[in-house]
Amino acid sequence: MSSNREHFSSRLGFILAAAGSAVGIGNLVGFPVSATKNGGGAFLIIYALFVAFVCLPVMMAEMAMGRKAQKDPYGAYRKLSGKSKRWSIAGLLGVITPFMIAVFYMVITVWIFGYLFQTTMGNLDLLASPEHFGAFINNTSVFWYMVIVAVIVNLILVGGVKEGIEKASKVLMPALFVLLISLVAYVLTLDNAMAGVRFYVVPDFSKLDASVLNGALSQAFFSLSLGMGILMTYASYISKDDNIVSGAKMVAITDSLVAFIAGLMVLPAIFSFNPDTNPAELSDSSVSMIFVYLPKLLLALQADIGYVGASVVAGIFFLLVFFAAITSLVSIVEVPTATLIEEAKLSRKKALTVLAIATGALTVLCTMSFGMVDWLTKMTAYGGADKSMFDVVYDIFYDTILPLNGLLVCLFVMYKWKKVRLSEELAQGCDDYVGSWVEKYVNFSLSTFIPVILLVIFINTVATKFFATSLFGF
Ligand code: PHE
Repeated sequence: MSSNREHFSSRLGFILAAAGSAVGIGNLVGFPVSATKNGGGAFLIIYALFVAFVCLPVMMAEMAMGRKAQKDPYGAYRKLSGKSKRWSIAGLLGVITPFMIAVFYMVITVWIFGYLFQTTMGNLDLLASPEHFGAFINNTSVFWYMVIVAVIVNLILVGGVKEGIEKASKVLMPALFVLLISLVAYVLTLDNAMAGVRFYVVPDFSKLDASVLNGALSQAFFSLSLGMGILMTYASYISKDDNIVSGAKMVAITDSLVAFIAGLMVLPAIFSFNPDTNPAELSDSSVSMIFVYLPKLLLALQADIGYVGASVVAGIFFLLVFFAAITSLVSIVEVPTATLIEEAKLSRKKALTVLAIATGALTVLCTMSFGMVDWLTKMTAYGGADKSMFDVVYDIFYDTILPLNGLLVCLFVMYKWKKVRLSEELAQGCDDYVGSWVEKYVNFSLSTFIPVILLVIFINTVATKFFATSLFGF
Protein backbone atom coordinates (compact mmCIF):
# COMPACT_ATOMS: atom_id res chain seq x y z
CA MET A 1 0.00 0.00 0.00
CA SER A 2 1.32 3.45 -0.85
CA SER A 3 1.90 4.99 2.56
CA ASN A 4 2.74 8.35 1.04
CA ARG A 5 -0.64 8.54 -0.66
CA GLU A 6 -2.33 11.88 -0.07
CA HIS A 7 -5.27 11.99 2.31
CA PHE A 8 -8.02 14.39 3.32
CA SER A 9 -7.10 16.12 6.56
CA SER A 10 -10.46 15.45 8.18
CA ARG A 11 -13.73 13.59 7.87
CA LEU A 12 -15.49 16.90 7.27
CA GLY A 13 -13.12 17.64 4.40
CA PHE A 14 -13.99 14.32 2.78
CA ILE A 15 -17.74 14.79 3.26
CA LEU A 16 -17.67 18.32 1.86
CA ALA A 17 -15.61 17.22 -1.12
CA ALA A 18 -17.88 14.25 -1.85
CA ALA A 19 -20.99 16.38 -1.34
CA GLY A 20 -19.39 19.01 -3.59
CA SER A 21 -19.14 16.38 -6.28
CA ALA A 22 -22.71 15.23 -5.76
CA VAL A 23 -24.27 18.69 -5.69
CA GLY A 24 -24.17 19.74 -9.31
CA ILE A 25 -26.10 21.35 -12.11
CA GLY A 26 -28.75 18.64 -11.96
CA ASN A 27 -29.64 19.39 -8.34
CA LEU A 28 -30.35 23.03 -8.83
CA VAL A 29 -32.73 23.07 -11.75
CA GLY A 30 -33.22 19.61 -13.26
CA PHE A 31 -34.39 17.98 -10.06
CA PRO A 32 -37.04 20.55 -9.02
CA VAL A 33 -38.49 20.74 -12.50
CA SER A 34 -38.75 17.00 -12.99
CA ALA A 35 -40.26 16.61 -9.50
CA THR A 36 -42.95 19.17 -10.32
CA LYS A 37 -43.76 17.60 -13.66
CA ASN A 38 -43.88 14.07 -12.34
CA GLY A 39 -46.14 14.13 -9.34
CA GLY A 40 -44.67 16.72 -6.94
CA GLY A 41 -44.55 15.28 -3.44
CA ALA A 42 -45.15 11.78 -4.81
CA PHE A 43 -41.93 12.09 -6.83
CA LEU A 44 -40.08 13.50 -3.82
CA ILE A 45 -41.06 10.51 -1.69
CA ILE A 46 -40.09 7.98 -4.36
CA TYR A 47 -36.81 9.78 -4.95
CA ALA A 48 -35.98 9.73 -1.24
CA LEU A 49 -36.76 6.00 -1.08
CA PHE A 50 -34.52 5.33 -4.09
CA VAL A 51 -31.69 7.29 -2.52
CA ALA A 52 -31.98 5.46 0.78
CA PHE A 53 -32.66 1.94 -0.43
CA VAL A 54 -30.96 1.66 -3.81
CA CYS A 55 -28.28 4.32 -4.12
CA LEU A 56 -26.88 4.29 -0.61
CA PRO A 57 -25.74 0.64 -0.68
CA VAL A 58 -24.03 1.22 -4.05
CA MET A 59 -22.36 4.31 -2.64
CA MET A 60 -21.06 2.38 0.36
CA ALA A 61 -19.76 -0.36 -1.93
CA GLU A 62 -17.89 2.14 -4.11
CA MET A 63 -16.39 3.86 -1.10
CA ALA A 64 -15.39 0.55 0.49
CA MET A 65 -13.61 -0.54 -2.69
CA GLY A 66 -11.69 2.72 -2.92
CA ARG A 67 -10.61 2.82 0.70
CA LYS A 68 -9.62 -0.83 0.81
CA ALA A 69 -7.55 -0.65 -2.34
CA GLN A 70 -6.18 2.86 -1.69
CA LYS A 71 -6.22 3.27 -5.43
CA ASP A 72 -7.98 4.85 -8.40
CA PRO A 73 -10.86 2.81 -9.93
CA TYR A 74 -8.68 0.98 -12.45
CA GLY A 75 -6.14 0.09 -9.77
CA ALA A 76 -8.89 -0.79 -7.30
CA TYR A 77 -10.55 -3.34 -9.58
CA ARG A 78 -7.19 -4.87 -10.42
CA LYS A 79 -5.89 -4.99 -6.88
CA LEU A 80 -9.06 -6.35 -5.31
CA SER A 81 -9.61 -8.93 -8.04
CA GLY A 82 -6.05 -10.28 -7.93
CA LYS A 83 -5.31 -8.78 -11.37
CA SER A 84 -8.15 -10.55 -13.14
CA LYS A 85 -8.25 -9.54 -16.81
CA ARG A 86 -12.01 -9.46 -16.92
CA TRP A 87 -12.31 -7.09 -13.98
CA SER A 88 -9.53 -4.89 -15.34
CA ILE A 89 -11.95 -4.05 -18.15
CA ALA A 90 -14.51 -2.88 -15.59
CA GLY A 91 -11.74 -0.78 -14.06
CA LEU A 92 -10.90 0.69 -17.43
CA LEU A 93 -14.53 1.59 -17.96
CA GLY A 94 -14.47 3.17 -14.50
CA VAL A 95 -11.82 5.60 -15.72
CA ILE A 96 -12.88 6.20 -19.32
CA THR A 97 -16.40 7.12 -18.18
CA PRO A 98 -15.36 9.99 -15.90
CA PHE A 99 -12.87 11.15 -18.53
CA MET A 100 -15.63 11.47 -21.12
CA ILE A 101 -18.17 12.90 -18.68
CA ALA A 102 -15.58 15.53 -17.76
CA VAL A 103 -15.66 16.64 -21.39
CA PHE A 104 -19.43 16.89 -21.43
CA TYR A 105 -19.63 18.64 -18.06
CA MET A 106 -16.88 21.06 -19.03
CA VAL A 107 -18.90 22.29 -22.02
CA ILE A 108 -21.86 23.19 -19.80
CA THR A 109 -19.73 24.69 -17.03
CA VAL A 110 -18.10 26.95 -19.62
CA TRP A 111 -21.52 28.22 -20.70
CA ILE A 112 -22.47 28.89 -17.09
CA PHE A 113 -19.30 30.84 -16.59
CA GLY A 114 -20.10 32.81 -19.75
CA TYR A 115 -23.57 33.67 -18.43
CA LEU A 116 -22.11 34.64 -15.05
CA PHE A 117 -19.59 36.89 -16.77
CA GLN A 118 -22.19 38.50 -19.03
CA THR A 119 -24.55 39.13 -16.11
CA THR A 120 -21.74 40.77 -14.16
CA MET A 121 -21.01 42.98 -17.17
CA GLY A 122 -24.61 44.22 -17.08
CA ASN A 123 -25.86 42.20 -20.05
CA LEU A 124 -28.78 40.38 -18.48
CA ASP A 125 -31.16 41.89 -21.06
CA LEU A 126 -29.07 40.33 -23.82
CA LEU A 127 -29.11 36.91 -22.13
CA ALA A 128 -32.89 37.09 -21.83
CA SER A 129 -33.50 37.55 -25.55
CA PRO A 130 -34.84 34.36 -27.13
CA GLU A 131 -32.17 33.91 -29.80
CA HIS A 132 -29.26 34.64 -27.53
CA PHE A 133 -28.38 31.15 -26.34
CA GLY A 134 -28.06 29.77 -29.88
CA ALA A 135 -25.80 32.68 -30.83
CA PHE A 136 -23.82 32.47 -27.59
CA ILE A 137 -22.80 28.82 -27.93
CA ASN A 138 -21.62 29.44 -31.46
CA ASN A 139 -19.64 32.55 -30.68
CA THR A 140 -15.88 32.12 -30.44
CA SER A 141 -15.88 33.89 -27.06
CA VAL A 142 -16.78 30.51 -25.53
CA PHE A 143 -13.18 29.47 -26.10
CA TRP A 144 -11.98 32.29 -23.83
CA TYR A 145 -14.42 31.22 -21.14
CA MET A 146 -13.15 27.68 -21.59
CA VAL A 147 -9.56 28.77 -20.91
CA ILE A 148 -10.63 30.53 -17.70
CA VAL A 149 -12.65 27.55 -16.43
CA ALA A 150 -9.77 25.18 -17.27
CA VAL A 151 -7.34 27.39 -15.35
CA ILE A 152 -9.62 27.47 -12.28
CA VAL A 153 -10.12 23.68 -12.27
CA ASN A 154 -6.41 23.01 -12.74
CA LEU A 155 -5.41 25.50 -10.06
CA ILE A 156 -7.57 23.59 -7.61
CA LEU A 157 -6.38 20.17 -8.73
CA VAL A 158 -2.70 20.98 -8.83
CA GLY A 159 -2.93 21.72 -5.09
CA GLY A 160 -3.69 18.03 -4.58
CA VAL A 161 -6.15 16.41 -2.21
CA LYS A 162 -5.65 18.43 0.96
CA GLU A 163 -4.53 21.80 -0.31
CA GLY A 164 -6.60 21.77 -3.49
CA ILE A 165 -9.79 19.72 -3.46
CA GLU A 166 -10.43 19.88 0.29
CA LYS A 167 -9.66 23.59 0.68
CA ALA A 168 -11.78 24.52 -2.34
CA SER A 169 -14.71 22.45 -1.06
CA LYS A 170 -14.46 24.02 2.37
CA VAL A 171 -14.89 27.45 0.81
CA LEU A 172 -17.23 26.72 -2.09
CA MET A 173 -19.73 24.46 -0.32
CA PRO A 174 -20.60 26.81 2.56
CA ALA A 175 -20.73 29.68 0.04
CA LEU A 176 -23.12 27.61 -2.05
CA PHE A 177 -25.42 27.04 0.94
CA VAL A 178 -25.46 30.75 1.76
CA LEU A 179 -26.24 31.75 -1.84
CA LEU A 180 -28.97 29.14 -2.09
CA ILE A 181 -30.65 30.09 1.17
CA SER A 182 -30.56 33.80 0.35
CA LEU A 183 -32.15 33.19 -3.04
CA VAL A 184 -34.86 31.01 -1.48
CA ALA A 185 -35.57 33.68 1.15
CA TYR A 186 -35.89 36.32 -1.56
CA VAL A 187 -37.95 34.26 -4.00
CA LEU A 188 -40.45 33.21 -1.35
CA THR A 189 -41.41 36.86 -0.88
CA LEU A 190 -42.54 37.21 -4.51
CA ASP A 191 -46.22 37.25 -5.48
CA ASN A 192 -47.65 33.80 -6.19
CA ALA A 193 -44.60 32.10 -4.71
CA MET A 194 -46.80 29.69 -2.79
CA ALA A 195 -48.50 28.44 -5.97
CA GLY A 196 -45.09 27.16 -7.05
CA VAL A 197 -44.42 25.55 -3.70
CA ARG A 198 -47.79 23.82 -3.89
CA PHE A 199 -47.07 22.29 -7.30
CA TYR A 200 -43.72 21.15 -5.99
CA VAL A 201 -44.76 19.44 -2.77
CA VAL A 202 -48.40 18.36 -3.08
CA PRO A 203 -48.33 14.68 -4.09
CA ASP A 204 -50.05 13.42 -7.22
CA PHE A 205 -49.53 9.67 -7.27
CA SER A 206 -51.36 9.24 -10.57
CA LYS A 207 -48.28 10.60 -12.38
CA LEU A 208 -46.03 7.79 -11.22
CA ASP A 209 -45.57 5.27 -14.01
CA ALA A 210 -42.69 3.00 -14.95
CA SER A 211 -40.89 5.60 -17.00
CA VAL A 212 -41.14 8.20 -14.21
CA LEU A 213 -39.70 5.66 -11.79
CA ASN A 214 -36.91 4.86 -14.20
CA GLY A 215 -36.20 8.57 -14.62
CA ALA A 216 -36.22 9.19 -10.86
CA LEU A 217 -33.77 6.40 -10.17
CA SER A 218 -31.41 7.41 -12.97
CA GLN A 219 -31.51 10.94 -11.68
CA ALA A 220 -30.75 9.89 -8.10
CA PHE A 221 -27.92 7.69 -9.31
CA PHE A 222 -26.37 10.44 -11.35
CA SER A 223 -26.96 13.10 -8.75
CA LEU A 224 -25.06 11.13 -6.13
CA SER A 225 -22.10 10.83 -8.53
CA LEU A 226 -22.38 7.04 -8.58
CA GLY A 227 -20.85 4.90 -11.31
CA MET A 228 -18.23 7.53 -12.11
CA GLY A 229 -15.41 6.25 -9.94
CA ILE A 230 -15.48 9.53 -8.03
CA LEU A 231 -16.50 8.16 -4.66
CA MET A 232 -14.06 5.28 -5.07
CA THR A 233 -11.26 7.75 -5.70
CA TYR A 234 -12.23 10.16 -2.91
CA ALA A 235 -12.66 7.29 -0.45
CA SER A 236 -9.14 6.15 -1.27
CA TYR A 237 -8.04 9.41 0.35
CA ILE A 238 -9.65 8.75 3.75
CA SER A 239 -8.24 6.95 6.72
CA LYS A 240 -9.19 3.56 8.08
CA ASP A 241 -10.72 5.17 11.18
CA ASP A 242 -13.28 7.07 9.17
CA ASN A 243 -16.82 5.82 9.19
CA ILE A 244 -17.87 5.12 5.59
CA VAL A 245 -21.43 4.19 6.53
CA SER A 246 -22.22 7.49 8.20
CA GLY A 247 -20.11 9.43 5.67
CA ALA A 248 -22.16 8.00 2.80
CA LYS A 249 -25.38 8.89 4.60
CA MET A 250 -24.20 12.47 5.13
CA VAL A 251 -23.32 12.86 1.46
CA ALA A 252 -26.68 11.45 0.36
CA ILE A 253 -28.60 13.66 2.78
CA THR A 254 -26.72 16.82 1.79
CA ASP A 255 -27.19 16.14 -1.90
CA SER A 256 -30.91 15.44 -1.56
CA LEU A 257 -31.46 18.38 0.75
CA VAL A 258 -29.81 20.79 -1.67
CA ALA A 259 -31.92 19.38 -4.50
CA PHE A 260 -35.07 19.76 -2.42
CA ILE A 261 -34.26 23.30 -1.27
CA ALA A 262 -33.44 24.30 -4.85
CA GLY A 263 -37.07 23.56 -5.66
CA LEU A 264 -38.09 26.22 -3.15
CA MET A 265 -36.05 28.67 -5.23
CA VAL A 266 -36.94 27.61 -8.77
CA LEU A 267 -40.67 26.82 -8.57
CA PRO A 268 -41.82 29.97 -6.75
CA ALA A 269 -39.78 32.02 -9.23
CA ILE A 270 -41.45 30.29 -12.19
CA PHE A 271 -44.96 30.73 -10.81
CA SER A 272 -44.41 34.30 -9.77
CA PHE A 273 -43.26 35.03 -13.32
CA ASN A 274 -46.32 33.37 -14.78
CA PRO A 275 -49.01 32.16 -12.37
CA ASP A 276 -50.70 30.21 -15.19
CA THR A 277 -47.65 28.09 -15.94
CA ASN A 278 -48.60 24.56 -16.84
CA PRO A 279 -45.91 22.37 -15.19
CA ALA A 280 -46.27 19.78 -17.95
CA GLU A 281 -44.95 22.33 -20.43
CA LEU A 282 -41.76 23.14 -18.54
CA SER A 283 -38.69 21.88 -20.31
CA ASP A 284 -37.15 18.65 -19.05
CA SER A 285 -33.70 19.81 -19.86
CA SER A 286 -31.64 21.67 -17.29
CA VAL A 287 -29.81 23.30 -20.18
CA SER A 288 -32.82 25.00 -21.70
CA MET A 289 -34.15 25.96 -18.26
CA ILE A 290 -30.89 27.56 -17.16
CA PHE A 291 -29.92 29.26 -20.38
CA VAL A 292 -33.21 30.15 -22.02
CA TYR A 293 -36.12 30.19 -19.59
CA LEU A 294 -34.56 31.47 -16.36
CA PRO A 295 -32.75 34.53 -17.80
CA LYS A 296 -36.11 35.74 -19.13
CA LEU A 297 -37.65 35.24 -15.75
CA LEU A 298 -34.75 36.88 -13.90
CA LEU A 299 -34.96 39.93 -16.17
CA ALA A 300 -38.67 40.26 -15.38
CA LEU A 301 -37.69 40.96 -11.76
CA GLN A 302 -36.66 44.43 -12.90
CA ALA A 303 -40.29 45.55 -12.62
CA ASP A 304 -39.90 45.02 -8.87
CA ILE A 305 -36.29 45.76 -8.04
CA GLY A 306 -34.93 47.58 -11.09
CA TYR A 307 -32.41 46.38 -13.69
CA VAL A 308 -29.47 46.45 -11.31
CA GLY A 309 -31.45 44.54 -8.68
CA ALA A 310 -32.48 41.90 -11.22
CA SER A 311 -28.87 41.62 -12.41
CA VAL A 312 -27.66 41.11 -8.84
CA VAL A 313 -30.18 38.29 -8.28
CA ALA A 314 -29.22 36.74 -11.65
CA GLY A 315 -25.53 37.09 -10.76
CA ILE A 316 -26.09 35.29 -7.46
CA PHE A 317 -27.98 32.54 -9.26
CA PHE A 318 -25.28 31.94 -11.88
CA LEU A 319 -22.57 32.09 -9.22
CA LEU A 320 -24.44 29.43 -7.26
CA VAL A 321 -24.71 27.17 -10.30
CA PHE A 322 -21.08 27.85 -11.15
CA PHE A 323 -19.84 26.84 -7.68
CA ALA A 324 -21.91 23.66 -7.85
CA ALA A 325 -20.50 22.89 -11.29
CA ILE A 326 -16.86 23.57 -10.38
CA THR A 327 -16.78 21.21 -7.40
CA SER A 328 -18.36 18.50 -9.57
CA LEU A 329 -15.93 19.12 -12.41
CA VAL A 330 -12.95 18.98 -10.06
CA SER A 331 -14.12 15.61 -8.71
CA ILE A 332 -14.57 14.10 -12.12
CA VAL A 333 -11.18 15.23 -13.44
CA GLU A 334 -9.55 13.89 -10.27
CA VAL A 335 -10.43 10.31 -11.29
CA PRO A 336 -8.30 10.09 -14.46
CA THR A 337 -5.70 12.26 -12.70
CA ALA A 338 -5.42 9.71 -9.90
CA THR A 339 -5.18 6.93 -12.48
CA LEU A 340 -2.32 8.61 -14.34
CA ILE A 341 -0.48 9.32 -11.09
CA GLU A 342 -0.98 5.79 -9.80
CA GLU A 343 -0.75 3.64 -12.88
CA ALA A 344 1.47 5.65 -15.22
CA LYS A 345 3.55 7.00 -12.32
CA LEU A 346 3.27 10.58 -13.54
CA SER A 347 3.62 13.53 -11.21
CA ARG A 348 0.36 15.36 -10.45
CA LYS A 349 1.46 18.28 -12.63
CA LYS A 350 2.29 16.04 -15.59
CA ALA A 351 -0.94 14.10 -15.20
CA LEU A 352 -2.95 17.31 -15.21
CA THR A 353 -1.09 18.58 -18.26
CA VAL A 354 -1.79 15.38 -20.19
CA LEU A 355 -5.46 15.56 -19.22
CA ALA A 356 -5.75 19.26 -19.98
CA ILE A 357 -4.55 18.54 -23.51
CA ALA A 358 -6.74 15.46 -24.00
CA THR A 359 -9.95 16.76 -22.43
CA GLY A 360 -9.24 20.20 -23.87
CA ALA A 361 -9.11 18.85 -27.43
CA LEU A 362 -12.31 16.84 -26.99
CA THR A 363 -14.08 19.74 -25.27
CA VAL A 364 -13.20 22.04 -28.16
CA LEU A 365 -14.63 19.50 -30.61
CA CYS A 366 -17.82 19.11 -28.55
CA THR A 367 -18.16 22.87 -28.25
CA MET A 368 -17.99 23.13 -32.03
CA SER A 369 -20.70 20.52 -32.47
CA PHE A 370 -23.61 22.92 -32.02
CA GLY A 371 -23.35 24.39 -35.49
CA MET A 372 -19.81 25.74 -35.81
CA VAL A 373 -18.56 22.69 -37.70
CA ASP A 374 -20.91 20.66 -39.83
CA TRP A 375 -19.53 17.14 -39.47
CA LEU A 376 -19.36 17.48 -35.70
CA THR A 377 -22.90 18.83 -35.58
CA LYS A 378 -24.28 15.96 -37.61
CA MET A 379 -21.78 13.35 -36.58
CA THR A 380 -24.15 10.40 -36.80
CA ALA A 381 -27.79 9.40 -36.55
CA TYR A 382 -29.57 6.87 -34.35
CA GLY A 383 -32.81 6.51 -32.45
CA GLY A 384 -34.53 8.39 -35.25
CA ALA A 385 -32.54 11.63 -35.03
CA ASP A 386 -29.30 13.31 -36.13
CA LYS A 387 -26.74 13.40 -33.34
CA SER A 388 -23.91 15.82 -32.68
CA MET A 389 -20.64 14.83 -31.05
CA PHE A 390 -21.93 16.32 -27.78
CA ASP A 391 -25.09 14.18 -28.03
CA VAL A 392 -23.00 11.06 -28.61
CA VAL A 393 -20.84 11.68 -25.54
CA TYR A 394 -23.93 12.42 -23.47
CA ASP A 395 -25.94 9.43 -24.68
CA ILE A 396 -23.17 6.88 -24.39
CA PHE A 397 -21.38 7.83 -21.22
CA TYR A 398 -23.77 9.87 -19.19
CA ASP A 399 -26.96 8.02 -19.87
CA THR A 400 -25.95 4.49 -20.76
CA ILE A 401 -22.65 3.57 -19.16
CA LEU A 402 -23.36 5.01 -15.70
CA PRO A 403 -25.94 2.38 -14.68
CA LEU A 404 -23.70 -0.27 -16.25
CA ASN A 405 -20.80 0.85 -14.07
CA GLY A 406 -23.10 0.70 -11.04
CA LEU A 407 -24.12 -2.81 -11.99
CA LEU A 408 -20.46 -3.85 -12.30
CA VAL A 409 -19.72 -2.45 -8.84
CA CYS A 410 -22.53 -4.55 -7.32
CA LEU A 411 -21.49 -7.71 -9.12
CA PHE A 412 -17.83 -7.22 -8.33
CA VAL A 413 -18.29 -6.48 -4.66
CA MET A 414 -20.77 -9.29 -4.05
CA TYR A 415 -19.48 -12.09 -6.23
CA LYS A 416 -15.78 -11.46 -6.70
CA TRP A 417 -14.58 -9.46 -3.73
CA LYS A 418 -17.26 -11.10 -1.56
CA LYS A 419 -19.63 -9.95 1.18
CA VAL A 420 -17.32 -10.71 4.10
CA ARG A 421 -14.65 -8.42 2.76
CA LEU A 422 -17.15 -5.65 2.12
CA SER A 423 -18.45 -6.01 5.68
CA GLU A 424 -14.93 -6.08 7.04
CA GLU A 425 -14.09 -2.82 5.29
CA LEU A 426 -17.31 -1.07 6.25
CA ALA A 427 -16.85 -2.16 9.86
CA GLN A 428 -13.55 -0.24 10.02
CA GLY A 429 -14.50 3.01 11.70
CA CYS A 430 -18.04 1.75 12.33
CA ASP A 431 -17.79 -0.69 15.21
CA ASP A 432 -21.42 -1.75 15.34
CA TYR A 433 -21.71 -2.44 11.61
CA VAL A 434 -21.26 -6.20 11.68
CA GLY A 435 -24.53 -7.84 12.66
CA SER A 436 -26.53 -4.63 12.22
CA TRP A 437 -29.66 -4.44 10.06
CA VAL A 438 -27.78 -2.05 7.78
CA GLU A 439 -25.23 -4.77 7.06
CA LYS A 440 -27.96 -7.30 6.37
CA TYR A 441 -29.79 -4.90 4.09
CA VAL A 442 -26.64 -3.84 2.19
CA ASN A 443 -25.59 -7.43 1.56
CA PHE A 444 -29.04 -8.57 0.58
CA SER A 445 -29.88 -5.66 -1.72
CA LEU A 446 -26.51 -5.54 -3.47
CA SER A 447 -26.60 -9.23 -4.25
CA THR A 448 -30.21 -9.37 -5.40
CA PHE A 449 -32.55 -6.64 -6.56
CA ILE A 450 -30.22 -3.64 -7.00
CA PRO A 451 -28.20 -5.28 -9.82
CA VAL A 452 -31.48 -6.37 -11.42
CA ILE A 453 -32.86 -2.83 -11.32
CA LEU A 454 -29.64 -1.41 -12.75
CA LEU A 455 -29.66 -4.00 -15.51
CA VAL A 456 -33.24 -3.10 -16.43
CA ILE A 457 -32.35 0.61 -16.51
CA PHE A 458 -29.32 -0.12 -18.67
CA ILE A 459 -31.32 -2.19 -21.17
CA ASN A 460 -34.16 0.32 -21.23
CA THR A 461 -31.77 3.21 -21.86
CA VAL A 462 -30.11 1.37 -24.73
CA ALA A 463 -33.54 0.58 -26.19
CA THR A 464 -34.82 4.16 -25.85
CA LYS A 465 -31.67 5.98 -26.86
CA PHE A 466 -30.44 3.90 -29.71
CA PHE A 467 -33.49 2.07 -30.99
CA ALA A 468 -36.28 4.58 -30.20
CA THR A 469 -38.30 1.99 -28.30
CA SER A 470 -38.91 1.47 -24.58
CA LEU A 471 -39.32 -1.53 -22.30
CA PHE A 472 -42.13 0.39 -20.66
CA GLY A 473 -43.91 1.23 -23.90
CA PHE A 474 -44.51 4.96 -24.22
N1 PHE B 1 -23.76 14.78 -9.10
C1 PHE B 1 -23.34 15.60 -10.16
C2 PHE B 1 -24.46 16.53 -10.62
O1 PHE B 1 -25.56 16.45 -10.12
C3 PHE B 1 -22.94 14.67 -11.21
C4 PHE B 1 -21.61 14.89 -11.69
C5 PHE B 1 -20.54 14.78 -10.86
C6 PHE B 1 -21.45 15.22 -12.95
C7 PHE B 1 -19.32 15.05 -11.33
C8 PHE B 1 -20.24 15.48 -13.42
C9 PHE B 1 -19.19 15.44 -12.59
O2 PHE B 1 -24.28 17.36 -11.46
